[in-house]
Amino acid sequence: MNILILGGGGREHALVWAVKQNPKCDRLIVAPGNAGIAMLAECADLDIMDGAAVVGFAEENAVDFVIVGPEAPLAAGVADALRAAGVLTFGPSAEAARLEASKGFTKEICDAAGAPTAGYARFTDKAAAVDYVRATGAPIVVKADGLAAGKGVIVAMTVEEALAALDDMFGGEFGQAGAEVVIEEFMEGEEASLFVLCDGTDVLAVGTAQDHKRVGDGDTGPNTGGMGAYSPAPILSDAVLNQAMDKIVRPTVTEMARRGTPFQGVLYAGLMIKDGYARLVEYNVRFGDPECQVLMMRLGAQAFDLIHACAEERLGDCRVNWADDHALTVVMAAAGYPGAYAKGSQIRGLEELPEDSSHMVFHAGTAARDGSVVASGGRVLNVTARGTTLSEARDRAYAMVDRIDWPGGFCRRDIGWRAL
Ligand code: AMP
Ligand code: GLY
Repeated sequence: MNILILGGGGREHALVWAVKQNPKCDRLIVAPGNAGIAMLAECADLDIMDGAAVVGFAEENAVDFVIVGPEAPLAAGVADALRAAGVLTFGPSAEAARLEASKGFTKEICDAAGAPTAGYARFTDKAAAVDYVRATGAPIVVKADGLAAGKGVIVAMTVEEALAALDDMFGGEFGQAGAEVVIEEFMEGEEASLFVLCDGTDVLAVGTAQDHKRVGDGDTGPNTGGMGAYSPAPILSDAVLNQAMDKIVRPTVTEMARRGTPFQGVLYAGLMIKDGYARLVEYNVRFGDPECQVLMMRLGAQAFDLIHACAEERLGDCRVNWADDHALTVVMAAAGYPGAYAKGSQIRGLEELPEDSSHMVFHAGTAARDGSVVASGGRVLNVTARGTTLSEARDRAYAMVDRIDWPGGFCRRDIGWRAL
């Protein structure tokens, strides 16, 4: 099979690594890819936000199956364009991608589905939002409705912070994404992520994970795209997982189908768990990054069979072949991230590291220059390992980190602390 994967981060490197292990994969092309992906697949220069261009590329290259990594092309309708052209595609339609692209829409679906989530109100008028914040008090959560690259959520511990967030959002800081604002009840608890393949009708949970959003050890400092992750998430016990599937995920999928906009792809449910009960924080319509890296390391080659069955609406016949294992990934980022950071610093020592079913360095923002690997983004490497226990996975990952010679980079030293 000729397979095209859209994206160029650590998530896509992990997808490439898993897909490549599957004997069904003949030719593998990735657009745009990165320096790590280029060691496993052909990289193509293609505007992945342009549906017509992606369709044209798929037709020219006799692509049988397209896997869409990031949310932006999904929200822009690239999966719709591919399916309309008869190309088998993994990833939701633009209409179904609203589960990530509009927080207000997700709340509306939760209401219709009876899914437990934070209480909320939606505003397009600033004065009304200000009145609501003053009347409700803090802590309170202020969210720009649309896609804002993870920056559109302010968890305000004071009324002043919430009002400042409203100033920013209604002042245009997030562009169209902030034209509507959702204000939510603050939920306490522990967060975890659940990843569920959905083929429009059937659902299949393919893993759980926990992320580390803050840049610094001990969960301090500003929010990032994620500084490390591990799978499974112990807080998602079988009981909590079943409740989340029965009360949140399945009713959502049923409601989307009832509306004539079935969800096909991976539904990533961000959950808040308190006293053994999960409520929905948010949905994403793609794999998490770096959560995908630990999921792929655990699933291996079967990941492709599951993703392919999902796109062909055959999930009802599938099961996950679980191993009793743990995976952990440490993100190495360029100094300064998530603020301003330099590009172009050289990374040495990667070629001496083990690469097998329990050890892999997935590349995120890297580029090849004169035969060496240089940093080209904020989050740069995902040093990932598997073990029979989480502490074994952690020790293996940090042993690799310590052999990487990259003075321009840094990482958190406490990934996994909550579960360990
Ligand atoms: P989101 O992009 O909606 O996941 O929000 C980003 C982060 O903000 C989440 O991962 C939570 O840590 C936090 N958050 C969002 N909504 C709430 C809420 N209602 N209560 C508490 N924390 C929240
Ligand atoms: N790591 C969080 C995300 O992918 O949204």
